[in-house]
Amino acid sequence: MRDAFLRVEGVRKAYRSQKSQSPPVLVGVDLSVARGQIACVLGPSGCGKSTLLKIVAGLEPPDAGVVLVDEREVRGPGLDRGVVFQDHALFPWLSVLDNVRFAVKSRWPDWDRARVHIHSLKYLGLVGLLSVLDARPAQLSGGMRQRVGVARALAIEPKILLLDEPFGALDPRTRAGLQDELLDLCATFKQTVLLITHDVDEAILLADTIFLMHSAPAGSVVEAIPVGLARTRRAASLHRQVGYAALRHRLLDAILGATEGREPAPMPEAAGRVVPFSADTTNKEANHDKTGSDRPHYRGETS
Ligand SMILES: Nc1ncnc2c1ncn2[C@@H]1O[C@H](COP(=O)(O)OP(=O)(O)O)[C@@H](O)[C@H]1O
Ligand SMILES: [Mg+2]
Repeated sequence: MRDAFLRVEGVRKAYRSQKSQSPPVLVGVDLSVARGQIACVLGPSGCGKSTLLKIVAGLEPPDAGVVLVDEREVRGPGLDRGVVFQDHALFPWLSVLDNVRFAVKSRWPDWDRARVHIHSLKYLGLVGLLSVLDARPAQLSGGMRQRVGVARALAIEPKILLLDEPFGALDPRTRAGLQDELLDLCATFKQTVLLITHDVDEAILLADTIFLMHSAPAGSVVEAIPVGLARTRRAASLHRQVGYAALRHRLLDAILGATEGREPAPMPEAAGRVVPFSADTTNKEANHDKTGSDRPHYRGETS
């Protein structure tokens, strides 16, 4: 993809135990995501999704291959990438407000207290947390904790938001609410997102493109599937969208087939088009309001 904002090329990874080299978790992983796109990596448990996200986040080095964000090679963690994990990873001893302020201060060390405060409040307001600013994470529900994680990740105005099963531990109703909020925030900020999930519905709801991973013989991306559904998706009405059922069947076959070592069934005509993962997957129709655009100017001077 020529205008790819995130590029993962030929990534290979094997974890080393103290005694020996384990077999590779990832081999030949390639994917690319255009600016402003939401890409979901979908695959069965254990296929290496979290490993891939950690490599993009710079938390694990690849053994081979390269990751580029906005043309710059990822060589370690950086504040151009905002990360949200399933277990939120907030500082338990800091208040909601201080968790976000901490990240904002790290991102802009020369900002004065007032500016850090106002900026943090803006993002906490966007996720509806202004009434719990002084609470500690342990005092919040799971959904609220994930909101703090999302606010903290967005507050550093990252080039790309990296989410590893961020809503996986939540009850279905809370999850649906947060998924819709994430869609709204991403539309507002034209945010580029890489989201890991093993949940087919979550991938269909959120993604412009789904990168399907298999785990055998080692984790790799086997297909890039543009989600050709209308962009007015909401969690509660997703199942009524034209093309939803066919796409869901296709993805379930692929995931279950991968788990059982079978080849996925061919894609029904009515659903999204399947293309090889190396092809240009920019879905211009689905992304007519998202591609090629920068953040709105009011989002911050340094973006
Ligand atoms: N830090 C680690 N050290 C050794 N093996 C690991 C480590 N992290 C993950 N693995 C192994 O790598 C494989 C892929 O794990 P992971 O990336 O977490 O997959 P997924 O997120 O798709 O469930 C699993 O077999 C897991 O046990
Ligand atoms: Mg995982």
